[in-house]
Amino acid sequence: MKFIEQLLLQNKAWVEQKNREDKDFFNRLSNVQTPKFLWIGCSDSRVPANDITGTDPGEIFVHRNIANMVVHSDMNMLSVLDYAVNVLEVRHVIVCGHYGCGGVRAAMGNQQFGLIDNWLRHLKDTYDLHHDELDQIVDATQKENRFTELNVIEQVFHVTKTSIIQNAWAKRNLPYVHGWVYDIKNGLIKDLKVTMNDNTEMPRFYRLRTK
Ligand code: CO
Repeated sequence: MKFIEQLLLQNKAWVEQKNREDKDFFNRLSNVQTPKFLWIGCSDSRVPANDITGTDPGEIFVHRNIANMVVHSDMNMLSVLDYAVNVLEVRHVIVCGHYGCGGVRAAMGNQQFGLIDNWLRHLKDTYDLHHDELDQIVDATQKENRFTELNVIEQVFHVTKTSIIQNAWAKRNLPYVHGWVYDIKNGLIKDLKVTMNDNTEMPRFYRLRTK
């Protein structure tokens, strides 16, 4: 059996199982989606937002890219964020990185991988911001893990600097913006405790006055 056919068979089995558990499941979801969360995560196949948080379709609005980056000129990310915040009115935005991230590891090295090197440049710039701390860590895994955490924190800041988030905060002090790291070795999520829902801690020049 070809692997691709296996996927379609598994889809049928999944539908049957969902219908057995909850007859109204697809009917309910087909009418409306009201997720409370926006997930900005890595494309890595080992970090699927719904599975690792024990949630169902309909519960998390998802944006994923290599190394869970928030690049302020990325129209894809901005569109997802704007729709999630202003139309779906999610209560939480979660930036979730993960230990063992290939993008993070590649950004720490000097090897060329092609086009992606231009995407990884954003990570290298984050490394540069924190090189005083990172260069002091001798153990390679510890260094990589800390860089992963610092990168998540930096991407949380990038979310909060957008006009989308600052306008929403001015109106309703929502959404909360969180930074998490997932450990692919044991499946556990660590909260980096950088949650924000106002711009009072933000450097002055990033603060935007609302109209
Ligand atoms: Co990754």
